[in-house]
Amino acid sequence: MISKCLFPAAGYGTRFLPVTKAMPKEMLPIVNKPLIQYAVEEAKEANLGHMAIVTGRGKRALEDHFDISYELEKQIAGSSKEYLLDGIRDLIAHCTFSYTRQIEMKGLGHAILTGKQLIGDEPFAVVLADDLCINIDGEGVLSQMVKLYNQFRCSIVAVEEVPKEEISRYGVIEGKMISDDLYTVTNMVEKPSPEEAPSNLAIIGRYILTPDIFKILENTPPGKNGEIQITDALLTQAKQGCVIAYKFKGHRFDCGSAEGFIEATNFCYENFYKKNC
Ligand code: UTP
Repeated sequence: MISKCLFPAAGYGTRFLPVTKAMPKEMLPIVNKPLIQYAVEEAKEANLGHMAIVTGRGKRALEDHFDISYELEKQIAGSSKEYLLDGIRDLIAHCTFSYTRQIEMKGLGHAILTGKQLIGDEPFAVVLADDLCINIDGEGVLSQMVKLYNQFRCSIVAVEEVPKEEISRYGVIEGKMISDDLYTVTNMVEKPSPEEAPSNLAIIGRYILTPDIFKILENTPPGKNGEIQITDALLTQAKQGCVIAYKFKGHRFDCGSAEGFIEATNFCYENFYKKNC
């Protein structure tokens, strides 16, 4: 059973400067809800109750968001706007939150390793909140992946076909097809040039990882851009035949880029906000 979800949220968010100078990228609002709340909602929908968040300097707002503000509760009780807090109150009531700080931003692999004490020796999910995933027609992407984990009992990465000119922004897999949407991963390359890319299947910000990943990460030297890359650690697992790539059902918005952020905002405004107001 998977019960914990890790949210690496310590990155500097340099693509969104200056807004990310004093505010976490994960608190950027998609209409009236921050990215991290969408991410936690997706994890809760997948029946994960323990949210483990890796934060860094200047990220206190993340902890405050998942805490009760007594002044606000008193102010808003009985008012016509109280319903706006329903979603966040539900998360606070039904999930537990724990936090740890990444002291030096040495990459996503390092951020995941920083979460080791919060996760322990069990399989866990990883969600990058700046990749907003929405499946309007059915279950969320993490729910789909948890089901696959229960079937295969190995690490799972979510992948998406991306155009050649964008491939160098991602970790890219090479795999043997199991079925239309499933591959056994045989190779992975972090941020390849279009010529080096082994396929057009890019890893997006959803993972299920088996706990042996921590030991592997401890022994993974810095890779591309001098950062400890989760892709390098996953490659070690893949060589043992233990990584599945899954072409998920739903839509992913790259909210770490201005285009993806605007697209997500328009989508959520039309599909959620307008319908609830
Ligand atoms: P990104 O590559 O998007 O980096 O990290 P970033 O710092 O957030 O944004 P840019 O590229 O500078 O604009 C992917 C995810 O990994 C986390 C980030 O918070 C983000 O969720 N991360 C990255 C860490 O937690 N620690 C790191 O050292 C690096």
